[in-house]
Amino acid sequence: MQQNNNHNNNHKIYLGDCLEVMQGFADKRFDLIYLDPPFFTGREHLLSTRNGEKLYQFSDVWKSEKDYINFLSLRVHEMRRILKDTGSIFVHCDNKASNSIRNILDEEFGRDNFRSEIIWYYKRWSNSRNGLLPQHQNIFYYSKTNNFKFNKEYTGYSATTNVDQILQKRKRDYRGKAIYAKDSDGNLMICDEKKGVPLGDVWEIPFLNPKAQERTGYPTQKPLNLLEKIIRLASEEGDEVFDPFCGSGTTCVAAKLTNRNSVGIDISKDAVELANYRLINPIKTQSALLQKGEEAYKIFDEWVDAHLVGIDCNRIARNAGIDAILKKNLNGCVCLIRVQRENESVFESISALLKAAKTKHNSQMILIKTSEDFFESDCRDVYIINSPALEIKRLENYIKPDTQRTILQIADVG
Ligand SMILES: C[S@@+](CC[C@H](N)C(=O)[O-])C[C@H]1O[C@@H](n2cnc3c(N)ncnc32)[C@H](O)[C@@H]1O
Repeated sequence: MQQNNNHNNNHKIYLGDCLEVMQGFADKRFDLIYLDPPFFTGREHLLSTRNGEKLYQFSDVWKSEKDYINFLSLRVHEMRRILKDTGSIFVHCDNKASNSIRNILDEEFGRDNFRSEIIWYYKRWSNSRNGLLPQHQNIFYYSKTNNFKFNKEYTGYSATTNVDQILQKRKRDYRGKAIYAKDSDGNLMICDEKKGVPLGDVWEIPFLNPKAQERTGYPTQKPLNLLEKIIRLASEEGDEVFDPFCGSGTTCVAAKLTNRNSVGIDISKDAVELANYRLINPIKTQSALLQKGEEAYKIFDEWVDAHLVGIDCNRIARNAGIDAILKKNLNGCVCLIRVQRENESVFESISALLKAAKTKHNSQMILIKTSEDFFESDCRDVYIINSPALEIKRLENYIKPDTQRTILQIADVG
């Protein structure tokens, strides 16, 4: 999706080693710093654009861990100098060097200024590893002083929260225990306002999928949704945000979309070109999961699950046309399953399945039919099977008293 922005904020991307460029910046200039440095993976990161025309790369190969720590320490020291006293720094890493990075930050910013370790959690589907599948990265959040900018954010209550807990006022009793407050007549009191639950430190934000419009082809590109969340949390409109390892420019684009100014640096000429291009032409993928929320995907669960009992399949929760995939292939093909909805004709159900299966080449399809249609629909590409309940209904009509007797008589002879 193309975003339009009417505000005239300033955005500047520098080419070079961030240490040298930062040395030219004044003390206490930036309101917020986010960095996503090489993670100490020991790899050359290579990726190409979708059309294969452009190859982007950066190196994350080091002589030793000491060498890496020294590289980062020098730069983090400079970052503290150019951060405002009310500013915060967010350092993105994963388990490769998170211990060392935490030590660097404790030393530079002080343990007292550690605010949170944010866990960026995302779903991945892969069974290639023998062990637990990595599904998160870490973002260390420190402020420069105790007086820092922070915009409180609230989220919804969990489904298991008791309605009384939300609506009724509470107070502490003489033991310090939380109890419901009562007025002078002994009636329970209602809360004035409930904003929700303060934002936690585990954020589920989908990874950019390979087909996402937002994806530029730059290796390790982070989602705009993640950067926007950080920027909104710890800065105000008009503030200046800084990313010393900006890569494809995600931080600067997120700053632009949230009406902040930004400065980015990258040592790669291709990255700088790409970041500048994205600033002119920001494209953001709207995540259906974030827009609709997990709950929206659970609406049909009970109905669909009930009709899939006994079928050895993997349930698909976020697809408009496919409800499940058989675990075993059918005639060498993946087999997609849909359950006809209560308010849906067989024709509509087949259409939804065919549409969803369009891009799933070489697949077989099964529709579990749950109600009779006045108009019989047929489709050569979809196997239609009746649900047990529908099959019993058909039998009720088919087996007349006479037929039953005949069957019994034949059984007797046998
Ligand atoms: C993990 S990537 C950043 C990806 C970025 N967050 C994004 O969303 O596209 C790390 C970047 O640091 C850059 N880099 C490595 N060493 C650098 C240095 N000394 N100064 C500036 N940039 C550097 C690399 O070229 C690479 O683009």
